[in-house]
Amino acid sequence: MFASLRKNVLTTFLFLVVSFSESFGQTPALIPVATENNLMLLGTDKQNRLRIVYFGAKPAKENDYSKIAAQYFINDNNAGIYNAAYTTAGTYNLVEPALQVKHYDGNLSLDLKYKSFTTNKNPDDGQTITVLLQDEVYPVQVKLFYRTWPKENVVEQWAEVSHTESDSIILSKYASANLYFVAEKFILTHFHGTWAKEMQPVETELSAGIMSLDSKLGTRANLYQSQNFMVSFDKVATETEGKVLIGSLGWTGNFKIDFEIDSWNNLRLIAGINPYASAYTLAPSKIFRTPSLVYTYSEKGTGIASRNLHHWAIEHRIADGKGTRLSLLNNWEATYFDFDEPKLKDLFKDAKNLGVDLFLLDDGWFANKYPRNGDNAGLGDWQENKKKLPNGIGYLVREAEKAGVKFGIWVEPEMINPKSELYETHKDWVLRQNERPEIYFRNQLVLDLSNPEVQQFVYSVLDSMFYKNPNLSFIKWDCNAVIYNAHSMYLQKSGLPQSHLYVEYVRGLYSVLEKLRKKYPSIPMMLCSGGGGRADYEALRYFTEFWPSDNTDPLERIYMQWNYSYFFPALVSCNHVTDWGKQPIKFKTDVAMMGKLGFDIVVSKLNEKDAQFAKSAVTTYNSIKETIWRGDLYRIENPYKKPTAVLFYVSKSKNHGVLFSYLTTERYGNTSSRPSRLAGLDPAKDYQVKEINLYPGANSPFKTTVYSGDYLMTIGINPRLSGSRKSVVLEILEI
Ligand code: GLA
Repeated sequence: MFASLRKNVLTTFLFLVVSFSESFGQTPALIPVATENNLMLLGTDKQNRLRIVYFGAKPAKENDYSKIAAQYFINDNNAGIYNAAYTTAGTYNLVEPALQVKHYDGNLSLDLKYKSFTTNKNPDDGQTITVLLQDEVYPVQVKLFYRTWPKENVVEQWAEVSHTESDSIILSKYASANLYFVAEKFILTHFHGTWAKEMQPVETELSAGIMSLDSKLGTRANLYQSQNFMVSFDKVATETEGKVLIGSLGWTGNFKIDFEIDSWNNLRLIAGINPYASAYTLAPSKIFRTPSLVYTYSEKGTGIASRNLHHWAIEHRIADGKGTRLSLLNNWEATYFDFDEPKLKDLFKDAKNLGVDLFLLDDGWFANKYPRNGDNAGLGDWQENKKKLPNGIGYLVREAEKAGVKFGIWVEPEMINPKSELYETHKDWVLRQNERPEIYFRNQLVLDLSNPEVQQFVYSVLDSMFYKNPNLSFIKWDCNAVIYNAHSMYLQKSGLPQSHLYVEYVRGLYSVLEKLRKKYPSIPMMLCSGGGGRADYEALRYFTEFWPSDNTDPLERIYMQWNYSYFFPALVSCNHVTDWGKQPIKFKTDVAMMGKLGFDIVVSKLNEKDAQFAKSAVTTYNSIKETIWRGDLYRIENPYKKPTAVLFYVSKSKNHGVLFSYLTTERYGNTSSRPSRLAGLDPAKDYQVKEINLYPGANSPFKTTVYSGDYLMTIGINPRLSGSRKSVVLEILEI
């Protein structure tokens, strides 16, 4: 027995020696993917396979890069290559793959070898590094793309797969990114939820095995699980300390993000489209391009990582990131489906009185044979309902303009009610199983966006509205149903596999949006999905903003907006003051101001003081919104850890800041007993601290005192929260 044990130990030892010498070998190709502070180093091994040699803070000297690989020992001959830059399946590898294929002849093996790389400078900033990998037996090639934004420390990564086999191959898994991290521990923060409870954080220490974040909902993919995540290395990162990766998959459909802890307790991350029911047949010479994973890494906590991502998004990604946003009055909760022209005209006046830029007409304005008077009919029939709106949208646009506000409108063009004329004429455009009873979500079905005819239909819904009403100023694009009955008549008729549906649906959606954006580049569009079912950086190429949740209770919103703020700048967060929550209008408005302000209340029913407050709040908001939208966000006090939430927005030039503070508990004796130390100011500058957005008649304990930036950042300022001052907004203005 002892002899066999000795033998086992010896064998293991030999294995280690072999592996050790392999990973200590020379690296013939070294490819740095560098930003200002970070470095990911790709390198080839003796077999010419591409590995991730290093991921972390950037060493000062480039000369040192070639010496990094020798410091890490990460081979385990029982499982293949843990740190492969794009892990294949079917040959040496037995861990979670990034790419899995079935060749034209049924063979399931793939082994990618490094061929070459190129580096191109991007016109806006940074570089795109393209690495070519090829199988030496089957003519399959993969290009890995790494696009860098040095200043923001952001990398966007995606892949292209193609081949020249004699017939099609099947891609069973085709990830966007495959990353590898070395640390003592990994703590994943991900966000889950459901309708009205979106973006609830969960912190999990990753342990041996695989944890996956995934969605199979098709549309509305974020409803239960967000594709935005954070990983802390070694210990949970705070706002100002610790190593953290913030990642976000740009795909408005099914996704899967695998976190696998390997036998060295290192982390393998594989992110992309969910392979669930999505085997993809790829014809010879066609290119399959994956969506991209966007990520930023910081060794100084989550605060700087978020700010980096915010600035990247504003500068380089979000539709009209540098443009303005419209404050608005929405009628959804004020009227639901019950409105007509006179009622709407009164609301236009309310919007004007309030001082907002736009009136947004929500659901219920369309369909005649099956009027949209509830959520059970009319979706698909995008003609004005003649009873409610005898003079059409054009009239409303003009009347709104006469009242002094712009006019915007709600659509849900990807959906259809079975009670609709569209259903009667175009059942073949609907995702449904002919042989089975239809399953509904909110009484509706999903149109088949994989079908070019349906894409054209969806495009023309919007296009004809703009054609008839060129002054239409805003679109709220909703998407309320998940994909039940996942079957496409179009794919069936075209002889294409049903397993293309989830991918082609999203591609179809993007091609509609692409075409719309070409023709209407500057129209603001809100991405909404039955609350916050869609929030990703690919959709935000086309949308100027998104709707985080139907839950607008301001207390809930403090937490939700806090969580979204790790990933998205305030500019894109549509926050409305509504009747949700029992808090006074001041509290509601303060919370809604931390983003793009809107109202969905019956303004005419506000009492005199509330009405006066709301009006002056809009004026105040207009004077501070630029700092909130595009400034630096410092999350100062975390409501998950304290009975208070404090968030501070500072302008780029550090001459203006806005501090939002809230008491988030009803429990006895909670006040802000200590000052909140601010951040991001210039220590040498002097600032006046003034309380703003006060309710009429309220006295403020702040007497426009002057403090130095140094004082505000070392001692801090106490917003003096208490039971009677549950939300306080302070303006910090350079003098
Ligand atoms: C969804 C949206 C709401 C509203 C309704 C209309 O639930 O999230 O804001 O537009 O649809 O039906």
